[in-house]
Amino acid sequence: MHPDRLRWNARYETTPPDFVPHPFAAEALRAGIPDGRVLEFACGRSGTALAFAEAGRDVVAVDVSDLALGQLAEEASRRGLRVECVLADAHAYQPEGEFALVMAIRFWDPDVYATACQAVASGGLVQWEALADPGGGRWRVRPGELSARLPEGFLVLSEQTASDASRLTARRVR
Ligand SMILES: C[S@@+](CC[C@H](N)C(=O)[O-])C[C@H]1O[C@@H](n2cnc3c(N)ncnc32)[C@H](O)[C@@H]1O
Repeated sequence: MHPDRLRWNARYETTPPDFVPHPFAAEALRAGIPDGRVLEFACGRSGTALAFAEAGRDVVAVDVSDLALGQLAEEASRRGLRVECVLADAHAYQPEGEFALVMAIRFWDPDVYATACQAVASGGLVQWEALADPGGGRWRVRPGELSARLPEGFLVLSEQTASDASRLTARRVR
């Protein structure tokens, strides 16, 4: 079994989900996104994925934890929503087609970030939140790293760097 699955299943087994949407959902809806699907990497039990499904979007939610995805799918079904839950290692997952919005919350991997940016349709958004550390590291971004790693053709709409986390919203303009 994937080591990340073991680690995260152990956490999800013992903590109840709250399904609270991240502020990214409201920010994206305020900023505007084109028609199209939403993709969330490392979604966990994502209230944000549910919020986009509630807003009428087709949502693809990817995570390595079958337990988290099971809980998310169950909540989606309880609300009469559909979220496509994909059990995959984010490093291996290759998005099919383009998405109006690609996001991840509290997850960091530079290669996955690059894949995510590539999957954003013209006019669409990438939204990313990662734990931060001035020295960077395997799981953390350095201040300003999210915008520095954007490929050409993205315009930063907002970037916040606190001592513990960095958060970015950027639009693909070409
Ligand atoms: C800090 S949690 C964040 C979960 C969710 N985004 C949130 O904000 O509540 C990190 C998530 O990344 C997932 N994860 C860890 N390694 C992963 C991998 N290699 N591929 C896909 N998901 C992974 C975990 O299962 C977990 O759901």
